[in-house]
Amino acid sequence: CGIVGYIGNKKASGILLNGLSALEYRGYDSAGIALLNDRIEVIKVKGKVADLVSACLSSGSELNSTIGIGHTRWATHGKPSKENAHPHSTKNFAIVHNGIIENFKEIDDFLLQEGYKKSSATDTETILLLIDYYSKTLSTFEALKKAMSILKGSFAIALIHLGEQKIYAAKKESPLLIGLQEDELFLASDLSAFLEHTKQFVVLEENDIAILEKNGRYKIYNNANKVERLVKSVDWNLQTAQKGGFKHFMLKEISEEDEALANTIYAHIQSDKIELDIDEDLLRNIKKITIVACGTSYYAGLTSKYFFEDLLSIPVSVEIASEFRYSKPIFSDNNIFIAISQSGETADTKESLNLAKALGIKTISIVNVQESTIARLSDYVLYTLAGPEISVASTKAFVCQLAMLYLLALKIAQLKGIDVEDYIKELNSIPPILKSEFNHINSEVEKIAKKYSHVKNFIYLGRGLSYPLGLEGALKLKEISYIHAEGYPAGELKHGPIALIDKSTPTFVIAPGIEPFYSKTISNANEVKARDGKIILLSEKYSYIADDFIESPKVSYFFSAFINIVPLQLFAYHIANILGNDVDQPRNLAKSVTVE
Ligand code: G6P
Repeated sequence: CGIVGYIGNKKASGILLNGLSALEYRGYDSAGIALLNDRIEVIKVKGKVADLVSACLSSGSELNSTIGIGHTRWATHGKPSKENAHPHSTKNFAIVHNGIIENFKEIDDFLLQEGYKKSSATDTETILLLIDYYSKTLSTFEALKKAMSILKGSFAIALIHLGEQKIYAAKKESPLLIGLQEDELFLASDLSAFLEHTKQFVVLEENDIAILEKNGRYKIYNNANKVERLVKSVDWNLQTAQKGGFKHFMLKEISEEDEALANTIYAHIQSDKIELDIDEDLLRNIKKITIVACGTSYYAGLTSKYFFEDLLSIPVSVEIASEFRYSKPIFSDNNIFIAISQSGETADTKESLNLAKALGIKTISIVNVQESTIARLSDYVLYTLAGPEISVASTKAFVCQLAMLYLLALKIAQLKGIDVEDYIKELNSIPPILKSEFNHINSEVEKIAKKYSHVKNFIYLGRGLSYPLGLEGALKLKEISYIHAEGYPAGELKHGPIALIDKSTPTFVIAPGIEPFYSKTISNANEVKARDGKIILLSEKYSYIADDFIESPKVSYFFSAFINIVPLQLFAYHIANILGNDVDQPRNLAKSVTVE
């Protein structure tokens, strides 16, 4: 979900709607704004920000308020509907909220006794009514403080109150930032909402309450004490957050992979030495690495395991964050924990990081969004320099995460005295190869996608590091085309999933031309062929078993991951585009999942 707020001397509605469009990737099942005038006006819809814009235009109101809050939602409590959309309001208050309130049922029971009846199924309305209840005897600030002391769970809140030219903001476990301009202030759960207005901002910390006023004035309190928070600035430009002639952000972001990769790599290689801002003694003595992440970031971690273990002979375990956070991990001396997250806000990854910290393990995060929660919580941060990734399906972030993991492996190798000169040379050579690969294969992959866009089930097969690539390829296809797809280790197919194969279930085979991987994978592809299955082969080496062949540039085994991910992403993209799907904002998904 995404939060925006504006207080200044301009019309708030347009600024809020623009901010919501920028945040829409965080959730898009419903959206709304609340404007403060001589009354609180709420406009909200089930649907996307574009629907909200139409609703505002047809509302008949002038919408000339200069203070307002807005929200775009990804449903947690209560299905997507107008009633459950934010802002929620009483006569005196309107509120928007990100996060989850765990004890909302108890509070609802209490409020019911006090004569409050909810009109939605959300936990957000519970917060609103609780504040409304306390405001009968307390100031808005005190009522908010009191409510915060009762609420269990996570929240970022923006609140307006009739009769006060202010926005109140409160933060616990869910990010909230104030964008600063001379005469105006912006509030948002994510920098991109106000990037077009200002690059100066402050980040609220745990249990902060901020009061935003006119003329750019604001105060921040923590436990009733007034506090100062550092003013920061960001160097992202807006251009990277615009489509630049491409039909979808996803295609644009795949086309940017060479540049994103180059930025990430070249920032850390200086005359053949890897430079990372991490204590060298820590790295030199590592005995075991635990990598934790969700979704595409998890697959980046899984892919890197092969390189780490081969190069360093250190065990690497890669875990799904939602599982890890409720496990009892076994750590010993010289173990390190790595969290990977594009957004830096994923709740399960963040809690896994907290668990590792509580167990006394040194933590490194690989994060794309500057100043995000996971970046701030970890002992060391390695920023991927992918630039803003807008499409919900992650592409260029994957490539950069993988590069950062390789850089870390290479750094540890250098500290251990292992010669990695050839690897560094090859890593340096990948960005231009990616560039020409994209230009060469995009239309060819599109042609193949056309042939298969009617298919209902897909299998992806790979061995070694091509196996997690297959998982990621299948995930991409599921996410945006809604076609069922499964990735398997090529040799495992015969132990069950091969029963799925028939002439209507094609198999995408990823087979870098390196032995023994190539021959073994082609044998498995033959087993598919023998059962009438169609084969799309991705390799630098042609085989007669291929019904369709995508030729990949020749690189060594460990670097084939960077090269082979591109056609997998393009294949999913073109199928989804041919099917007419909303590629950048696929149904049911959100870019950043800040709830567990
Ligand atoms: C969501 C997104 C995925 C992403 C995953 C992890 O589910 O839709 O694309 O891979 O979260 O996100 P993170 O920001 O932690 O990398």
